[in-house]
Amino acid sequence: MQNQLAAMLQDAALKIAACQTANDILNTKANYLGKKSLLNSLYSRMRELEPSERPAFGNLLNEARQKIEALLNERNNAIKEKSWQASSRSLDYTMPGVPGARGGYHPLTIVKREVDEVFLSLGFEIAEGPDIEDEFHNFDALNTPADHPSRNLADTFYLEGGKLLRTQTSTVQIRVMEKHKPPIRIISPGRCYRNDKPDPSHSPVFTQVEALVVDKGISMSDLKDTLQNFAVIMFGSQVKSRIRPHFFPFTEPSAEMDISCMVCGGTGCRVCKQSGWLELGGAGMVDPNVFDAVGIDSELYTGFAFGLGIERIAMLKYNIPDMRILFENDLRMLSQFRGELQ
Ligand code: PHE
Repeated sequence: MQNQLAAMLQDAALKIAACQTANDILNTKANYLGKKSLLNSLYSRMRELEPSERPAFGNLLNEARQKIEALLNERNNAIKEKSWQASSRSLDYTMPGVPGARGGYHPLTIVKREVDEVFLSLGFEIAEGPDIEDEFHNFDALNTPADHPSRNLADTFYLEGGKLLRTQTSTVQIRVMEKHKPPIRIISPGRCYRNDKPDPSHSPVFTQVEALVVDKGISMSDLKDTLQNFAVIMFGSQVKSRIRPHFFPFTEPSAEMDISCMVCGGTGCRVCKQSGWLELGGAGMVDPNVFDAVGIDSELYTGFAFGLGIERIAMLKYNIPDMRILFENDLRMLSQFRGELQ
């Protein structure tokens, strides 16, 4: 019986080595370990042995079974490995991996963060307000008369329950002044909404940064100085700035802010429409009526405010000819900004 066992083991080793598929393994396993296998019959024939010889022979049978199982497993793994390699023949594990696609910041985010940085370096704090506002914060407290055209449906998106989408970040001036007493020095970046048809220089959604400074003795020259500092840090030391008279309900006097055209250096070109100047946004000294609406003593305090258009700055900075490009999120445009800001 021992000889039979030894011969069977040798035979099994050869047959297992010759297996090529998972199916071969299953068949070979049945042949050598299954119910009708020689091994199984040898277990039954143990009875024929002297009782004293049985344990030793039993051990031999167990060892033989384990050996065959081990060989089957080993061969099975080798077959699996081979078929896996065949299916991924093009994989070379020594090659460096393919880097994952890297995202980047949207140009508006890049500019907004740069503007934040400039004002933080000038000692401003960042304040935020809600996009969904009420008429009080968007118009009334900002000294905007009931018949002012900006209140029209054609200009403002109204929501249910007397709410609206803010048309300007000047709303945050009011929210800050309601809560804090002077001195105040904040900027407030955020989305604004107006019922405008999209065109190269308009979008129903756009981004403003509001600035507000309130203290004793604040004057128009502080406004000019802040604007000039901002322009130089943001666009370079060559850039000049100026303010021109304008009108806003919540500032008196009001102005529009320009910087010298960085494309032509102020001599006149297509971008600045030959004027040498580029418009940045609105500004002015806080109207005493606004101070009254929020309970700040207008006899004691003065202040200035301005609002910058982030899209405008991004378009100037990156030479983007049409504002709509900033909202289409075309990857061919966005991917050019990968790595601009770490
Ligand atoms: N809120 C004004 C606008 O949207 C800009 C502005 C801000 C003007 C602050 C004066 C002071 O056009």
